[in-house]
Amino acid sequence: MSKVREEASPERAASVTPGAFDELVERILAETDYPKNPFLVALADGSFDRDDFVETQIQFYNAVIFFSRPMAAVAAKIPSARQRREILRNVWEEHGEGSDHDAHGETFLALLERLGVSEEELGRRPLWPEVRLFNTALTGACVMDEFLVGTGVLGMIERMFSDISGRIGRAIVAQGWLPADRIIHYDLHEELDIKHADDFFEVLRPFWRDGTDEDRYVIEQGLRLGAVTFDTLYEHLYRARTRRWVLDQPLERHLRA
Ligand SMILES: [Fe+2]
Repeated sequence: MSKVREEASPERAASVTPGAFDELVERILAETDYPKNPFLVALADGSFDRDDFVETQIQFYNAVIFFSRPMAAVAAKIPSARQRREILRNVWEEHGEGSDHDAHGETFLALLERLGVSEEELGRRPLWPEVRLFNTALTGACVMDEFLVGTGVLGMIERMFSDISGRIGRAIVAQGWLPADRIIHYDLHEELDIKHADDFFEVLRPFWRDGTDEDRYVIEQGLRLGAVTFDTLYEHLYRARTRRWVLDQPLERHLRA
């Protein structure tokens, strides 16, 4: 991590002061400073090799198809049916609202095809441990930890992805890798994930407002874990971008997701 990046994120102690929840989210985003993530910097300055980028996207597919599973797990732990409903709606939306065609994994698959990746090639790329680490962190937060943590983790990831989607989509066009009208998935999520993030944050807001200092502490823990986990995934993908692991035989499912 660059010195500049560290300096841009001043250290401060985690606070349990009952301030505005949304201010906390903004503060964590600013402190994480993910636009300086080397993955996004290289995409923006044109130094990201196209084939390396495509390899990272093949791997990212395995994060996309897994995401609805920790989401379903954390939804089950939310104690009120009314609050659970919005998260379940997201889980349903991730599954294309019942249509195979619109499932989020499918739109990402279509993007990979447009970038020249065949299903055969996809099947021959083993899952990188960096992506399994990301998926396992989400599982840990959503299954083993309390629901305030898992909800915060997923909310923060959705929030960051709304912005990161836009950045990646625009970079793909700017590099001339695809024309604007061939971008899929990233264009949709730029708008959609602001709403998705807010659905998670709506679960947390009453606990932030009316809960104890300990509740607020746990909420902040989850938000910060989400920010670090997602930022780290991109850093890891960037670091491993020149890796070319290929299986002799394609596997249909690397994740059984
Ligand atoms: Fe989403």
